[in-house]
Amino acid sequence: MEPSTLWPREKTLLYPLLLERAAALLAGETDAVANMANLSALVWQALPDLNWAGFYRRMGAELVLGPFQGKPACVRIGWGKGVCGTAARTGAPQLVPDVHAFPGHIPCDGASRSELVIPLFAPDGEVAGVLDLDSPLLGRFDRQDLEGLLPVSRLITMEVEG
Ligand code: SME
Repeated sequence: MEPSTLWPREKTLLYPLLLERAAALLAGETDAVANMANLSALVWQALPDLNWAGFYRRMGAELVLGPFQGKPACVRIGWGKGVCGTAARTGAPQLVPDVHAFPGHIPCDGASRSELVIPLFAPDGEVAGVLDLDSPLLGRFDRQDLEGLLPVSRLITMEVEG
């Protein structure tokens, strides 16, 4: 990855490029932690206006902090708790334009105003973790971000642990 890569602001250009770069970056590597680390760094570089980008992994009945970029974050999130736990419990992405309006939102970084969480699935279909993006801007994420990031998140393959 060239550190000087310029990422387009236009989402119709950004997401195909991100998917191409992410696929190349992860190609041939099966270690999920290494891939989550590199993918969080790539997403952090590519997307503007983020204050956190990273992963939580399912371990038993909890989500446990995985590789990320941004400020130190909550380590353990109960199943069904907060935005991340809701995405994990329901298996449905959570597009939250205003985190203060989301009942039970867990404020890891007080600067976060909007959030996008995408569940990750093990090969057997069980939720194995989540990709979590936070922004200091209200309404930072829309359907285009979700649809652009879905195939990127699918590049991570992992099993449920614990
Ligand atoms: N806000 C999240 C917790 C994780 S941090 O944002 C990194 C939530 O409500 O699940």
